[in-house]
Amino acid sequence: MELFDAIHSQRAIRRFSDEPVPDELVRKILDAAIRAPSGGNRQPWSFIVVTDTDVKLELGRFYKESWDQGGLSKMASDADPSTARVYTSAQYLAERMGEAPVLVLACIETGGGDTTITTGSSIYPAVQNLMLAARGLGLGTVLTTIHKGREAEVKALLGIPANLETAALIPMGFPGEGERFGPTRRVPVDKVAHRDRWGGAL
Ligand SMILES: Cc1cc2nc3c(=O)[nH]c(=O)nc-3n(C[C@H](O)[C@H](O)[C@H](O)COP(=O)(O)O)c2cc1C
Repeated sequence: MELFDAIHSQRAIRRFSDEPVPDELVRKILDAAIRAPSGGNRQPWSFIVVTDTDVKLELGRFYKESWDQGGLSKMASDADPSTARVYTSAQYLAERMGEAPVLVLACIETGGGDTTITTGSSIYPAVQNLMLAARGLGLGTVLTTIHKGREAEVKALLGIPANLETAALIPMGFPGEGERFGPTRRVPVDKVAHRDRWGGAL
């Protein structure tokens, strides 16, 4: 697939078909993820690929608890029309996270200290590579973070060492019925880019 086609059509896919994802595709996607840049080339990432049904269901349960605890079900039902689509889709996923064919938990080594946007951000180029590579292979993904409300439980379930922080839980699978890749709806470049100084027209 052409790179720009992948970039323009990669979007949040939250409904998956039951079709299994071959292991060689998962490996290829992770091999793309680890090509990403990181601060000092420290490559502080680890990825836990979860395909075991019981473990996925348990992760899904933590995700849903955290979703409910954050009052997101209520926000979903109260959402105005401009955000309702995202919330409806996110609610659908919150109820079925554990049923996705594959769950990838992206973790970052933090040394046990407090994570900042600088120390923690080395995971995101890898996550974006992962999602773009998946798109290139016809697989849908979405970056999610709601599980963070159950960080300790997730780490205990998967035996993740103390010096690692979980960063993103990424369900992966072939798009389910009614799901489609992009085009995405985004604020245009001219509204977010400036030349030479803030407000300078590009
Ligand atoms: C940092 C970050 C955190 C996100 N967390 C969640 C999440 O917890 N659950 C979820 O369903 N989607 C989550 N998303 C997905 C966004 O809602 C989605 O990328 C955005 O609405 C754009 O969707 P689109 O590409 O389909 O237009 C997250 C995205 C980012 C970048």
